Amino acid sequence: MKFFLDTADIAEIEEAASWGALAGVTTNPSLYARVGGTLAAFPEHISRICALVNGPVSAEAVGVTREEIIREGRELSALASNVVVKIPTTVEGLAATHALATEGIRVNMTLCFSVPQAILAARSGARYVSPFVGRFDDISEDGIEQLSLIIEALANYDFSDVGVAKENVEVIAASIRSAQHVTQAALLGADIATVPFNVLKKCVEHPLTTNGLAAFEKDWEKVKNL
Ligand code: G3P
Repeated sequence: MKFFLDTADIAEIEEAASWGALAGVTTNPSLYARVGGTLAAFPEHISRICALVNGPVSAEAVGVTREEIIREGRELSALASNVVVKIPTTVEGLAATHALATEGIRVNMTLCFSVPQAILAARSGARYVSPFVGRFDDISEDGIEQLSLIIEALANYDFSDVGVAKENVEVIAASIRSAQHVTQAALLGADIATVPFNVLKKCVEHPLTTNGLAAFEKDWEKVKNL
């Protein structure tokens, strides 16, 4: 499973990239608003992220109609070769995804919550499908169970006949809120988990690592003082 960072924060991306395991970044309008981004600065911000990341960077189209989404998608994909256009799973989004995929533009279909949505996204030519986990948990449903259904259903088929450059669709486990979500997504075979920086840090930590390190440091002091 690959790790993507789910953020628009440049400092977080630089730090995670320095760890060597960062395979991509996903952003959305809320994450961009969180870093105080303006409309005018959006293209430059996405370009900066693309230059920092050796992998796909999802930038979301905010248009409502297919024409608006297609226009935005073309503009976003022209920013850098590693831009992936993020598009919500709606009728207009599917139509825009189909048009953009036909032009060879990679799409990540987002706000995906069901097996039929995921299959339709894949059939429209999306390169990535993003089932949301945490938002199911927010409404007292089991997000990991929903993710497992989508992974199982997509694995039944080969969608490379409609994909960009004949690549098959990849599942991005999104709306990940904990290291436990990461574990479960990996055990289910999600291709990618996109995680907030605080969750990525939690993935590195383990109390036995912390305790073991403290013991090594204490014993090394003894060695130094002999
Ligand atoms: O990238 C979209 C998704 O990961 C959002 O997560 O925590 O806002 O539900 P969250």
